[in-house]
Amino acid sequence: MEQRIAVIGAGTMGSGIAHVAALHGYQVYMIDEKPGVVQTARVRIHQRLDREVEKGRLTPSEREAVMDRLIEATWDHVADAELAIEAVLEIMEVKKAVFQTLDRVLGPEAVLATNTSSLSITEIATTTRRPQNVVGLHFFNPAPVMKLVEIVRGEETSDDTVQRVQTFATSINKEAVVVQKDTPGFIVNRVLMPLFIEAMRIYEEGIASKEDIDKAIKLGLNHPMGPLTLADLTGLDVDLNVMDYLFQEFHDDRFAAPMVLRRLVRAGKLGRKTGKGFYNYDGV
Ligand code: 3HC
Repeated sequence: MEQRIAVIGAGTMGSGIAHVAALHGYQVYMIDEKPGVVQTARVRIHQRLDREVEKGRLTPSEREAVMDRLIEATWDHVADAELAIEAVLEIMEVKKAVFQTLDRVLGPEAVLATNTSSLSITEIATTTRRPQNVVGLHFFNPAPVMKLVEIVRGEETSDDTVQRVQTFATSINKEAVVVQKDTPGFIVNRVLMPLFIEAMRIYEEGIASKEDIDKAIKLGLNHPMGPLTLADLTGLDVDLNVMDYLFQEFHDDRFAAPMVLRRLVRAGKLGRKTGKGFYNYDGV
């Protein structure tokens, strides 16, 4: 079983993945090209672990052991990682550059996984000399809490690679599903984006208030949060990127982003991160 993993990108998803892996005993190399981002992520993880200590689920010494396993690293330090999980910006060229570097610095047996929420695993894999070791490993926000990971096969992903990430997922107490064909949005986002889009259209058309749209889905479908609140949590910029990509790939209006979403993103109102997302928006 893998013992050392590298997590590339220490934003919301990267830090959540690092958190859950360290909690389950992995030594985690954390890399982010922006100075200070890994330190900020470590502070946030420490705060989360403090709450676990307060609730009596962790002892202070266990918390310190988890923190000790979270290592701020550079590319020079990660050569012995058996698994790398990339969680950088959802932009193909940015991901490809990371995979090229991972391919160069990690041992030949290492698995290279991407947390992409929609992009093609096969295309990302083309930048490496080991496409059989490249796989999608899609976590959900907040990663420490959400049970699911989607394992996504690229055209050349080997069974052994799928098996290794399945074992990894089980070892960090996640449930995995395997997406057998590399298709945009995989399972969850292919279903979730039309839900967001339809909720936003209902709002745009003046059919119901944001509060009532969310309440309807929460209570009518037993979802933990309404779609407009959830769209803010996942980040409106991320949502728009995913919708645009799905629209481009499927040529289908099911995935056409509502104008209200595009306007909010252009205005820098990105949801959770700024506190100024869809839910705090009053116009149409
Ligand atoms: N990190 C770690 N733990 C967190 C957390 C975070 N960011 N946010 C909440 N938690 C923990 C809390 O500590 C609490 O733990 P406890 O029950 O063990 O004490 C637990 O989660 C519940 O949190 P709260 O009591 O604060 O609030 P809620 O009960 O309302 O739960 C929620 C919050 C877990 C976010 C819940 O509302 C939920 O499940 N919402 C839906 C989330 C969802 O659908 N995510 C998927 C988004 S799609 C996606 O990510 C794909 C991407 O590609 C777009």
